[in-house]
Amino acid sequence: MIICKGEKEIAQMRQAGRIVAGALELARKSVRPKLKTIELDIMIENYILTKGGKPAFKGYHGYPASICASINQEVVHGIPGSKRLSEGDIISVDIGVELNGYFADAAATFAIGKITDKAKRLMKTTELSLEAGIEQVRIGNKLSDISHAIQKKAEAAGYSVVRDYVGHGIGREMHEDPQIPNYGPPGQGPELREGMVLALEPMLNLGGSGVKVLSDSWSVVTADNSLSAHFEHSVAVTAVGPDILTKLAN
Ligand code: MF3
Ligand code: CO
Repeated sequence: MIICKGEKEIAQMRQAGRIVAGALELARKSVRPKLKTIELDIMIENYILTKGGKPAFKGYHGYPASICASINQEVVHGIPGSKRLSEGDIISVDIGVELNGYFADAAATFAIGKITDKAKRLMKTTELSLEAGIEQVRIGNKLSDISHAIQKKAEAAGYSVVRDYVGHGIGREMHEDPQIPNYGPPGQGPELREGMVLALEPMLNLGGSGVKVLSDSWSVVTADNSLSAHFEHSVAVTAVGPDILTKLAN
């Protein structure tokens, strides 16, 4: 069952979303060569706590940190640690916040110093595929219109879409119904209605779509070791179109 939120609930989620957006901005400004991903995690956890929020990932199914930090061929769920960033890396930072019982979730991929044109284009396309998905978050559309728009944008640029991890509803819990694949034919699934809030999160690979989970039982990497990028926003369906709850200055 997809839970529709009222205006007051969406206002609460926007407050959580603001903290997520601010935390991602802090990540964007902080990432640099030599920084350890655990240092980034601590910085962001402190930011979230200072704003009165709770890091939603910490303890979720035993996840040990406040952010996911996935570098280069890592797709999602990279655990922060003593590994240092290097010039030329890309890092996907995924952040979830709980505030007053409501959740918001977003992610972005950042460049460390100068990166290759290949990496730049992958990042840009992933962001554009998220935007194409968001554009479909409209009353009366079908859920898979989102999925299809994301896939089309990704594959037109020659990238593959990860299939093993999907977007999701969000609200009183971090993961609610429905699941939102980043691929598929249009015109299928439930009709979008006012008050639905959806976390769209395309993950695009430079190579094949296959992924595997490392022995830490969290880190997901591309099966062919190709680069991967990830962008995510929590978006509400409203009478006037998509409302991005996790964007900056919101
Ligand atoms: N944005 C991720 C998702 O929706 C959250 C990471 S899961 C956690 O799946 F376990 F790290 F919390
Ligand atoms: Co998510």
